[in-house]
This record gives sequence, structure tokens and C-alpha cells, in this order.
Amino acid sequence: MSQLTSAWELKSGRIIRNHFVLAPMVNRQSEVDGSVGDNELQWLLRRAQGGFGMIITSATNVLPAGQTWANQLSVHSDKHIVGLTNLALALSEAGSVPILQIFDGGARAPSSLTGEQPRSASVFTLDIPNFEQPRALTLVEIHELITAFVDGAKRAYQAGFAGIEIHSANGYLLNQFISTQTNQREDEFGGSLTNRARLVRMILHSCKQALPADFIIGVRLSPENRGIQAGLDLDEMVQIAKWLAEDGADYIHLSTSDVFKRADKYPDDERTLIDYFQAVLGNTPLLAAGNLQTIEQMERAYQAGVSGVALGRVAIANPDIPLHASEDGYQPLMMPYTREHLESVKVSTNFYEYLLPYPNFIATSDAK
Ligand SMILES: Cc1cc2nc3c(=O)[nH]c(=O)nc-3n(C[C@H](O)[C@H](O)[C@H](O)COP(=O)(O)O)c2cc1C
Repeated sequence: MSQLTSAWELKSGRIIRNHFVLAPMVNRQSEVDGSVGDNELQWLLRRAQGGFGMIITSATNVLPAGQTWANQLSVHSDKHIVGLTNLALALSEAGSVPILQIFDGGARAPSSLTGEQPRSASVFTLDIPNFEQPRALTLVEIHELITAFVDGAKRAYQAGFAGIEIHSANGYLLNQFISTQTNQREDEFGGSLTNRARLVRMILHSCKQALPADFIIGVRLSPENRGIQAGLDLDEMVQIAKWLAEDGADYIHLSTSDVFKRADKYPDDERTLIDYFQAVLGNTPLLAAGNLQTIEQMERAYQAGVSGVALGRVAIANPDIPLHASEDGYQPLMMPYTREHLESVKVSTNFYEYLLPYPNFIATSDAK
């Protein structure tokens, strides 16, 4: 019997039926106005029926100006509550703990969608296609942003979600405040690590103040630089994780390319990225995603201290991993996948088209 299938408890007392977590994934299956679409609901419900203990939704924008993809799930208005209620109810009835990931794209929210110049910690330029130089948020706007995150969390609560995840990873707005590459502010939100971490900590603090103690509030972080995302330092990220745990985060969720990767900063150190974070979190659970493809890898991550084994790409094609995990010799289907298979597991055309550029994900015969 796989250890991953045992129930566990969060600090808030919430029981989760197993250690499998659906990683947050943008899937562009929502309505144009950001309301939950039927395809979005069916996609997540199918993974809940497949046994995932915790389901984290795609990144949902808390302000119109933070929208980063067309047909993105949103939580910036009360009009979104009805659809979110249907979603939370469906996932809960299927036995999963539903978590709404809340976010703002910052510099990566294109004007073509938002109708305005992207905003960020500072003015900066990155050498990537279609990059639009952002303007720096004013202090008043930063406080409005904190309120928008809290309002998004309250709507999630009202809709029946068990909790929220504050998305502070992968180069989006909260990560842009932490990164020295994208934050050159000279006020209390820039400069020292204390100042660069202030925004995410204030959002966590304000959400905790506004919501009941058993409402789950997790935070997602990137441990180190990755691709175009620079300006992060491993020791600083470990310190931020420690602060957030001390501040009362219900979990810390690491977004990695490979859960077992060693730190770029210390290549001679045998410890993996998760070891560094594990060492400072005390009784705050660690969730981690990053190239977990086989049951053996998932179990190894669990044994290394990952309480919530978060599955991204593999769960797109294999919604029933948790149900099968304890079967002798069971292995998830490996990439690449055919369109026919993806449709059979509730991946709609919009999501399929979004996945086409992902390397090796779609069978080449289908991609043509
Ligand atoms: C299609 C797709 C969409 C994603 N969208 C999000 C997102 O909305 N929020 C987020 O924090 N990470 C997002 N990610 C990152 C995943 O949550 C996960 O960390 C990453 O895919 C690594 O896990 P994997 O190797 O199991 O796929 C996305 C990844 C994929 C493949």
C-alpha cells in the first residue's frame, strides 16, 4: 500500500484524504469574463473524482489589471462568486479539498487583455518577445492590491473553498517584488530582503486577519532562478519561507523544475532544493511540484518530507493517479499524449491548444 494514500491533517485541523495535490494549472477554460466555465469545472471535477486529496485551481486574477491569459479564471468581482460556488461544491462533494490560487500577473499581464500598461514593482526591461515595459505601482496602489487579494480570499471563502494559495512564484507580480532583478524600489517595498518580502507577508497577514482560522492559506514560492526569471537567491527564498511559516502560512508550496534538483547556488552540496526549505519550516507542511512522473518518484518525494506531492503535467493526462497508486506495478501514462486521449480525460479544445507549445506533451502526429 502506498504511503501517499494515507490521510493527513493541516495545522488548521483540516483533514486531507491523501497526499496527492493537483498543481495549479492555467487552462484557459473559463468564460471570457473570468467566470467558471463548464469545461473548467469538468476538468477539475474529473481530477477530484480521480481521488486527488487537494485540488488547487489555476491562477485567478484578483484585479482586472492582473489578467495574464484570455479565458483565465478570475475572482476580482462578486459576479464570480456564483460559478466559484458551483466549482467548490462539486470538488468538495467528490471528496477533495478545493483551494483557489489567487494572483496578479504584474509585468506579465499584457495590455491587449487589460487595456492598460502592465504594472510591477519597478520599471524594467526583459529580453523576451512581446515584452511591454511596466510602470511602478504607487504606494496607494500597493495598498489597493493588498485589499484586492483579501477581497479575492473572502470571495473564495464565501464560495465554499477550503482555502486559498497566494501565488508568489514563477515570475508574476509578488515574485517581481521579491526579485532584485525586477524590484529597484527605494521605499519600504524595495531594497533589503525585509522590504522585498513585505508585500507577500502583508497579503498573508491581511488574509489571515480577515478570514476564519480554519480557512487554509498557503503560499507558493520559486526557490531559485529559472529561465528568464532572475534576481532570486536561494538563501533569501529560504528565509522568506521561514518568515511566512512563522507568520502562520498553512503550507509552503515550492514550484520547481525538478523536485530532486540540487541548488544552483551550491552545486557541490548533496542536499536537494526541498531539503533547504524542509529544514526551516518546523511543523508547516511543504508542498512541491516538479517533474514527478512515476509513483516511485512521488513516494521518494514524500519520504524526503514533501507532505503534498503536487502533480502538474502528468495529472493532465492521468486524472486517476491517486485511485491507482496502491496497485502493484501501476504507472501513469507518459508523454506524449494524443488529442483523443486528452479529450477523454476532460481536456477541452481551448486547453489542448494552450498545451501545444509545451515540449513533448502532445504526440507529434497530433501537433501538426
Ligand atoms: C499548462 C500549465 C499551466 C500552469 N499554470 C500554473 C498556474 O496557474 N499557477 C502556478 O503556480 N503554476 C502553474 N504551472 C506550473 C505547475 O503548477 C507546476 O509547478 C509545473 O508544471 C511543474 O510540475 P510538473 O512537472 O508536474 O508539470 C503551470 C504548468 C503548466 C504545465
